[in-house]
Amino acid sequence: MCTRKSSPFALLLVLAFGAGTAVAETPGLGKPINEADIAAWNIDVLPDGTGLPPGSGTATQGAAVYSQKCAMCHGENGVNPAAGILPLVGPSKFDRIDTMKTVPYYKYATTLFDVMRRSMPYQMPKTLANDELYALSAYILSLNKIIGENDVMDAKTLPQVKMPNRDNFIIWAPDKI
Ligand code: HEC
Repeated sequence: MCTRKSSPFALLLVLAFGAGTAVAETPGLGKPINEADIAAWNIDVLPDGTGLPPGSGTATQGAAVYSQKCAMCHGENGVNPAAGILPLVGPSKFDRIDTMKTVPYYKYATTLFDVMRRSMPYQMPKTLANDELYALSAYILSLNKIIGENDVMDAKTLPQVKMPNRDNFIIWAPDKI
């Protein structure tokens, strides 16, 4: 049983109240963020396509962008990449633990768009136009034989692409999603 009259917890409470007063007296730094600033960062794309911008592209258009902006690292046609970089074309069956997990491993096709939009090209992220992103999505999905060579990718078609590994994920905590 605890018999002490003034516990360390009481001291903590005093400190917390003290800190609250100090926070109220800010030095007045910063400025309110505006909608345009938020929009530039608010670029995530959800599995159902929420967040996809307008635009469209095909594999043929994507091939041209790819050879100019991506092949030097990821290799011609998404294979034989530079040392230490994963290829973009890989196996579509994941029945072994050591199978290389590349783009076909993704659960949703929109993840590919999201990854490229926020982080590629590696040395110049956020420089790809929306049409380029759709075209690159079409090209990489078609190289992996997940869509046809002539399929057009846009905000409507991309979320409808069924990734080969989609049904193989196990949800451990269904109440958390
Ligand atoms: C300077 C080298 C470089 C260039 C150019 C580059 N990438 Fe990458 N890319 C990388 C590296 C390194 C990674 C791994 C990054 C990581 O895991 O954090 C990567 C990862 C990726 C991934 C994720 C792969 C996976 O298995 O999940 C995709 C998709 C991708 N790049 C697409 C592109 C596309 C499309 C372009 C051209 C517009 C491009 N990259 C240009 C270096 C590059």
